[in-house]
Amino acid sequence: MTPMLETQDVARHFDVSRPLIQRLLAREGRRTLRAVDGVSFAIPKGSTLSLVGESGCGKSTVARLVVGLYPPTRGRVLFDGQDLAAARADRRQRSRMQMIFQDPYASLNPRWRVADIIAEPIRAFGLIEGRAAQMERVGELLTQVGLSPLDGQKYPHEFSGGQRQRISIARALSSNPEFLVCDEPTSALDVSVQAQILNLMKELQARLGLTYLFISHNLAVVRQVSDRIGVMYLGRLVELAPAETLFTTPRHPYTRALMEAIPDLEMTGRARTPVGGEVPSPISPPSGCAFHPRCPLANARCKAEAPRMLPAGEAQVACHAVEEGRAAA
Ligand SMILES: Nc1ncnc2c1ncn2[C@@H]1O[C@H](COP(=O)(O)OP(=O)(O)OP(=O)(O)O)[C@@H](O)[C@H]1O
Ligand code: SF4
Ligand SMILES: [Mg+2]
Repeated sequence: MTPMLETQDVARHFDVSRPLIQRLLAREGRRTLRAVDGVSFAIPKGSTLSLVGESGCGKSTVARLVVGLYPPTRGRVLFDGQDLAAARADRRQRSRMQMIFQDPYASLNPRWRVADIIAEPIRAFGLIEGRAAQMERVGELLTQVGLSPLDGQKYPHEFSGGQRQRISIARALSSNPEFLVCDEPTSALDVSVQAQILNLMKELQARLGLTYLFISHNLAVVRQVSDRIGVMYLGRLVELAPAETLFTTPRHPYTRALMEAIPDLEMTGRARTPVGGEVPSPISPPSGCAFHPRCPLANARCKAEAPRMLPAGEAQVACHAVEEGRAAA
């Protein structure tokens, strides 16, 4: 079956050069930041792929590439088998995908009543004619996300963070999308509220057959919601595996380091062993495998040659040590 979404070697580079006069004075060239640099994955319909990795590894940039907010510098994005740029040009195709952001307050217009916020995509895509019918649909959507139809008359500031995220979800669902890109949808919320929103998202997925690309820096959160998980490091995928496989047999040294750093919630709530060292700059990434300065298994080959994604059991891993069989736990 055609995947809902597929990326083929997709990259997004940003020109972060200083102004010309400063470059001339300092005799420096243009500078390119490789936010995403060759990422390939497919998301089967009705499933959830999560992307995890430290801040700055390119997760939000992938989200923006996948909904067409950024054109790729290289590679292709296919939405239901069709080139994304072509799909975006068609209003009906566009209504099939929506995005949910981290901060529900920033993404909701504070001067609009909730009912109008939720109805906005319905109007923009011309899905339902007439205000009465639109408001009836808004009432249904509010009920679907666990709020009351009467809440439509209120303004965003009258709600808690979790309720506001429910409003964003109702708004995203109002165009009857099949594919939702969720960029850190629960990161701004308390742990207990986070769990409620994640449960709601799973329930909606089962009821409406939704496909999710879910982004989070928190492995514990993605475990709950994912079918498959991709681990990103400096703009690339380093491991892609079914969720349980990733947790039971993490293969890439970076995935293992992330696992070690999962906060021990029952104990202290604080990270146990953070990944040692700083994330290098994506403007001048290390040679070979970009993880080599922080990797306990790095050798000369790692410094010289970038590893490719290769199958390893049910997973795909980009690591020479895994390929050579010297990464056994
Ligand atoms: N529009 C832009 N112009 C220049 N650089 C950018 C732009 N957007 C992102 N970047 C850079 O690209 C890299 C990846 O950023 P991105 O926001 O995708 O990371 P992220 O994984 O979502 O991080 P976080 O967990 O902090 O949200 C970072 O180094 C960031 O500074
Ligand atoms: S390729 Fe080498 S440096 Fe990179 S993760 Fe594997 S062992 Fe470590
Ligand atoms: Mg981000």
